[in-house]
Formats: sequence, structure tokens, C-alpha cells
Amino acid sequence: MFKIQDYIRDIKDFPKPGIVYKDITPLLQDPEAARKTTDALMEKIGGLKVDKVVGIESRGFFFATLLAERLNAGFIPIRKPGKLPYDTLQESYSLEYGEDVLEIHSDAIKPGEKVLIHDDVLATGGTAAAACKLVEKMGGEIVQCNFLMELGFLNGKDKLDSYQVVSLLSI
Ligand code: PRP
Ligand code: MG
Repeated sequence: MFKIQDYIRDIKDFPKPGIVYKDITPLLQDPEAARKTTDALMEKIGGLKVDKVVGIESRGFFFATLLAERLNAGFIPIRKPGKLPYDTLQESYSLEYGEDVLEIHSDAIKPGEKVLIHDDVLATGGTAAAACKLVEKMGGEIVQCNFLMELGFLNGKDKLDSYQVVSLLSI
């Protein structure tokens, strides 16, 4: 039977001592595992109407694009600063290991559009919360925050308590 955890490997002390990095490349290498993972994410989305899927750089991009295709929705990248070429809106956030800024293109979402946020990991929730703020600044409505896995002991859900939060795996 397919178990997503069989395709995610722990890399200790990456990128810094004390961090256990969740490496999803084994999942992406295997087309059947990637398809079954997308199927499972689609089940979590259920019948929600979605206009745009927002993927968060970089590890959020992979399944966000697969979901956008399945949902017949647009794909919107949220990126680290200086990567998007057009006009952007910015939001700063604190990460499990450091501080950073996220950006979105200023024409990415129209007021009233229904938006699904996808990322690989929900850790402290800072990244996803900043992504939600960017979407809401543009008038988008967050219909779900969707993750492959959630590091439950970091209580990231607390930062997303006004949204529906789903994940395939809770660690
Ligand atoms: C990791 C992970 C999530 C985020 C979760 O990304 O992919 O995006 O951290 O952390 P948080 O819930 O504590 O905010 P990272 O910033 O390491 O970048 P990457 O996806 O480009 O590897
Ligand atoms: Mg990331």
C-alpha cells in the first residue's frame, strides 16, 4: 500500500545544525508516488471551488502546479525577494531558521478569487501565514491551506487558525 512517508527522507542538520530537513525528492522521482500524492491532496480539497493555486517557493511549486492542472485553476508563484520580474507586493515573515520576505506579482489575483495555498511543509506557519496575507491584500479568498506534511510540535496551525488547514501527514 502507498504510504507517503516511505518517500520522504529526513536529512539531519541540513541546512543548519539542529534542523531535520524533510526531503521530498524521492517522492518526485517516482511518477506513481507523485500521482498518488496528488490524488490524496485532491481528496482533501474535495469539492472546493478554486480559481488559483498559490505555490510557495521552492518546494511548494511541485505539487501546486500538479494541483492547478487537476483543478483547472491558475498557478501563482509566491517567491523569495528579487526573483519575480514584474511589480510585486511583499510580506516579511520569520522562518524556522531565519527571517525572509515573500513576494507575489501585483496582478496575480483578482478580488473575490478563491485561492488554495499549497506548500510542502507546515512548520512554524510563518511562511504560509505571510502567503495568506499577500493573497488577502489582493482581495483573494483563501479556501484552504494545503500541505504534504505538518510538523505538529511547532504548532504552525495556530498562525493559520482562521483558515481550513489540511495535510497528508502529521509528524
Ligand atoms: C521550508 C518549507 C516551507 C517552510 C515552512 O521552506 O518548504 O516552505 O520552510 O516553514 P515555516 O512553517 O516555519 O514558515 P524554505 O524556506 O526552507 O525554502 P525552500 O522551500 O525553498 O526549501
Ligand atoms: Mg519552502
